[in-house]
Amino acid sequence: MKKEYKFKKDFFWGSAISALQTEGAHLEMGKGKTTWDIWMEKDPDRFFGGEGNAVAVDFINFYKDDIKMMKEIGHNSFRFSIAWTRLIPNPLTGEINDVAVKFYNDLIDELLANKIEPFVCLFHFDMPAAMQDLGGWESKEVLKYFNIYAKKCFELFGDKVKYWFTHNEPIVPIEGCYLYNFHYPFINDFKRGVQAAYNTILSNAIVIRTFKEMKAEGTLKNDREIGIILSLTPSYPRDLNNPEDLKASKICHDFFVRSFLDPCVLGEFNKDLNKLLKDHNLMPEYKEEELLIIKENTVDFLGINYYFPRRVKAKEIKDEKVTGPHSFYDDYEMPGRKFNQDRGWEIFEKGVYDILIDIKNNYGNIKSYISENGMGRHGGDERDTDENGSINDDARIEFVKDHLIMINNAIEEGSNCVGYHMWSLMDNWSMSNAFKNRYGFLFVDRENGLKRKIKKSGYWMAEVAKNNKIVEVE
Ligand code: BG6
Repeated sequence: MKKEYKFKKDFFWGSAISALQTEGAHLEMGKGKTTWDIWMEKDPDRFFGGEGNAVAVDFINFYKDDIKMMKEIGHNSFRFSIAWTRLIPNPLTGEINDVAVKFYNDLIDELLANKIEPFVCLFHFDMPAAMQDLGGWESKEVLKYFNIYAKKCFELFGDKVKYWFTHNEPIVPIEGCYLYNFHYPFINDFKRGVQAAYNTILSNAIVIRTFKEMKAEGTLKNDREIGIILSLTPSYPRDLNNPEDLKASKICHDFFVRSFLDPCVLGEFNKDLNKLLKDHNLMPEYKEEELLIIKENTVDFLGINYYFPRRVKAKEIKDEKVTGPHSFYDDYEMPGRKFNQDRGWEIFEKGVYDILIDIKNNYGNIKSYISENGMGRHGGDERDTDENGSINDDARIEFVKDHLIMINNAIEEGSNCVGYHMWSLMDNWSMSNAFKNRYGFLFVDRENGLKRKIKKSGYWMAEVAKNNKIVEVE
């Protein structure tokens, strides 16, 4: 039996990368330092294999060849991020790096010449060191500099770039820096994390206000759109009949999904989460006028990153002190779950359907697209290589296909999801795992001058994108 899942004619097919993970030339061509450079200098062993991102996958030199391959695998759109400290090496002085202006202009031109729509993100985890010295997202001062940087990007590239994103997964630096100790400078303080999260949300709204002002005064074309990329990891309780599990799961969902989604899409903070924060003396400092900015400047477009669900159960041993979201729930390992051993993440494709239906029902069915989804395989691609050198990454194809079918189901039920970008175009450097896991449609041969090679998943995606459909043979 053959079953077809059709997508709309103008569905966005593509992939995503970030500057920090792919560009290379990390302190060359005038680039200023980020917190990652500081961390690598201090503690290189913290990165898998002691490998930093000095060269990453040298996208800065390979981009033309990479765009050719994007074309070959059917991309009509592609997300990359601008590195704040490449464009403005020292945000305190604001001086623009012309070499960076040229690089990003060339990149955008090359994409457009190949009929690939650029999606541009302003911030993908790469905090300038000078901004961290001011307090990073904890400091409202940094918001001013972020807005200056954003405005510069709109002025320089807004003529050519239609789709903009303020942040990629803004909750991750909060988790990494303030909750779970995996991003420098390891502040580990829940209350300060809540302040940084609030400020990040405010920064999103301030930048959107600038974007709108530029449209109103005619310095940006009217059809330009701005959004945010959120990692939406829905929570599922261990036992649907256990009220304590349900309560724990709801709190977890409020923390990891509603926290950013509500203010960025609806313009208001989630009331239950607010109450919980108030009850535990965790509320951030805020001003009424800031709440108004957040209310009036919500996103046009939502990027959804989805990798795994959260399984939750009621807390078994109560924490003496509230130190983070985990003071309200325990993680639950569901027996029989599908699991990607290499990355340590559960595979649950229905999660993406659940998110899209939630967005449809509770967030005005705002226009969205899947901005990241994918499968990290540890050395997996060598494992998949056959005697002719073809990389048969069937596990990745299955992963993407199963998620796309769920996305298709949600669209059939009315979801306004307009695209799918896989993480990632090519294997790249990761903040948590350096080069341990491979994610790409393109294999990057690190033993052989970083040469790229299209994997089977890339050829498979080319067919899907060309035909706008998935064909499943049962
Ligand atoms: C997303 C990030 O959360 O997951 C990417 O936006 C990241 O930057 C990707 O690389 C995969 O996660 P990891 O930790 O395996 O690299």
